[in-house]
Amino acid sequence: MLEPTYLTETQFLNNLDLRKEIEQGLLSETALISPKFLYDNLGSHLFTAITLLPEYYPTKTEKSIFEKNKLDIAQALGLKKGLIDLGAGNCQKAESLFHSLQPSSYTAIDFSIDYLKEILPQLQNKYPEIEMFGIGMDFSKNLKLPNSVTTSSHNFFYPGSSIGNFTKTDAQQLLTQIKAELREGGLLIGVDLMKEDSILFNAYDDPLKLTAAFNLNILRVVNSLIGSDFNVAEFKHYIKINHSLQRVELYLEALKDTTVTWADHIRTFKCGELIHTENSHKYTPESIKNLLTSAGFQSFHLWTDPKNYFALIYAT
Ligand code: TRP
Repeated sequence: MLEPTYLTETQFLNNLDLRKEIEQGLLSETALISPKFLYDNLGSHLFTAITLLPEYYPTKTEKSIFEKNKLDIAQALGLKKGLIDLGAGNCQKAESLFHSLQPSSYTAIDFSIDYLKEILPQLQNKYPEIEMFGIGMDFSKNLKLPNSVTTSSHNFFYPGSSIGNFTKTDAQQLLTQIKAELREGGLLIGVDLMKEDSILFNAYDDPLKLTAAFNLNILRVVNSLIGSDFNVAEFKHYIKINHSLQRVELYLEALKDTTVTWADHIRTFKCGELIHTENSHKYTPESIKNLLTSAGFQSFHLWTDPKNYFALIYAT
């Protein structure tokens, strides 16, 4: 059986930097937990379930754009290059492009190496002609890839509007690093566009409560990483639409006064106090092009859907 090659792995447990990052966030005045901790193995499965919800329009809309513009996209990206997938998750989006792009190699990068190890072997078996690599990496701080995946001509793939989960400054920094890792190829990026509040509310606080479960799971991840004693039942999923910053903000709200302890630390939460877990920035075609330009990209192909919910951009 053909096996993918795993190049580096996130040391998910016992990683001092990750623990420090969590502690610092919890001890800040407004507590915050980085969204990357949403994606342990269970969190990755929950997110995949969210993408199947009728209310969660981004995944479906992006998929419809891929399907409608397959040939055009292939023509822009070029055939038989390497494809580097940032935040690959279940790898389905990349797979949907394999037929038209015929990539020479596929590198799946994700924070959860455990989830990748579940997904990649099946994909490798299905496409033995594509050389596959799996990398467990936190590229949100520093994107430095092994030479083996960047020396040949390649395109980056960053779908799902994950760029929206960064502040504008951090997004610009990541895009600048992506540009620096490119030679002849480009970046195919999916970006969610600003729209009516009601659509956003349903997408980020769905009636089945899958999104709530996904957000709350972060407390269990934190408990297992730093040995804290968060009681998930004492918090609820809460969202806010911030119009001036053009983003959906995701929080966990304490349902009563509560105290969380770990190692020699203690943090109290008053009833109603919030823990900030994620921002999901929404762009306009102009604002995303401006951001890409500020990161050094010079030319753009843009595809969107009839409702203008989502944009797919190939930037070089
Ligand atoms: N990248 C996804 C988004 O911003 C992540 C996401 C979807 C999310 N639903 C969520 C993150 C709920 C936290 C809570 O659309």
